[in-house]
Amino acid sequence: MPFLDALDALPPADPARTGLFYEWLRRDWRALFGELRAHRPVLPLPPFTVVSRWADVVDILSRNETFRVPYAPHMDQSVGPFMLARDGAVENWRDKSVMRAVLRWEDVPAIRALAAKVAADALAAAPPPTVDVVATVSRLVPLRVVQQAFGFPGPDDAHMLRWSWATQADMFHNPANDPRLLAACNTAGQEMRAWVRTFLATREPWQTAQGGDSVSRLLRMTANGLSGLDAEQVVSNICGLLVGAIETTSQAIVNATEQILLRPDITARAIAAAGEKDDAAFDAIVWEALRFNPMTTFVARVVAEPAVIAPGSPHETAVAPGSVIAVGIGSAMFDPGVFPDPDAFRARRRTAYLHTGFGPHECLGQFVAYAIIPETIRQILLLPGIALLEGDASRIDEGGGPFAEHFVVAHGA
Ligand code: HEM
Repeated sequence: MPFLDALDALPPADPARTGLFYEWLRRDWRALFGELRAHRPVLPLPPFTVVSRWADVVDILSRNETFRVPYAPHMDQSVGPFMLARDGAVENWRDKSVMRAVLRWEDVPAIRALAAKVAADALAAAPPPTVDVVATVSRLVPLRVVQQAFGFPGPDDAHMLRWSWATQADMFHNPANDPRLLAACNTAGQEMRAWVRTFLATREPWQTAQGGDSVSRLLRMTANGLSGLDAEQVVSNICGLLVGAIETTSQAIVNATEQILLRPDITARAIAAAGEKDDAAFDAIVWEALRFNPMTTFVARVVAEPAVIAPGSPHETAVAPGSVIAVGIGSAMFDPGVFPDPDAFRARRRTAYLHTGFGPHECLGQFVAYAIIPETIRQILLLPGIALLEGDASRIDEGGGPFAEHFVVAHGA
């Protein structure tokens, strides 16, 4: 137990315990969580408690009024009151169902076709011998989906990508509460809301707003008194479409593509499935690849009332109101109880994965994500001669920030 032995050598309140945890998380997160699942499924550290087994992860994410989302301080001043910043509130009940109704299930095939065309065109314009996946497609595809399918055109690509980056970086990647990230998030959200308000004024009268995109549907529904949203709530929900879509999709495309290309046998299988346009077989490879480097290994929750994690189990742990829980969705996807032989790369049922969260806050855009992530990767793998570069030249480069900024691969050989 190399991690736990080193951890237990430190006094319980020593902040170095948290440093050690982060060091292992960076160095070998799968080995770290393997040890935790086996020997310390609930690990209290000074700033947060880590939960690593499937059953405890889904239990916590199911009990959302006890284990609440922590995002309000990072969302309210930026995009306004939003479903992902609330628990047991009208935004969860009403906004999610309204937004699900305007993100229509029947639209998914057309959204997948849009992703295919955007990706294929962009990749065709990238001259061999290399292509930067991030600069060429992984942000562009979700951006075009937001603009064209969701119906939030924005002023231009650059503003939208900046709003997306600044809001995501603070809302989901600022555990130390860096005030500069918070300020940039608030500025971005306020600019975005101002732009959306002006845009929506040009769409009056909303009753007869033309268009089969999500925003046009939302306007017609609202103007006809059916959504229950007021104008500012409409604005916040439109902003949420951009915030949710871009960096998440981009990171997933990059991470899964790399995991496929790291395995020659899987690359060969994926290229064969991509060529046959066999969606089910191809997509299964993508979701499994993403398990080995998921979009995020954690989501955070804050305890709202005296509570017990893993009640009735040998590792049950009482947690006090205000404590933070690092809910290990990445670890849960290696729990052998649900993912037998977890270190093996194999096709598994898609509904077992936690890539898009679980429970009341499960991703609003999940079915769009299930279409555009694999479709973009399919287009990348269809490039002749697609491969990782020698040495570490294809290493995913985060540029010191939280997201993939460059991922350069070879093609055209
Ligand atoms: C494609 C466009 C997307 C949109 C519009 C979107 C939007 C959203 C929204 C609005 C929520 C909050 C739902 C709620 O509070 O009830 C959410 C949650 C979530 N989304 Fe997405 N999302 C998208 C793509 C993705 C992708 C690609 C991933 C990962 C691969 C992802 C992962 C998640 C996760 C993990 C959560 C749960 C967060 C938590 O429980 O704290 N999303 N998404």
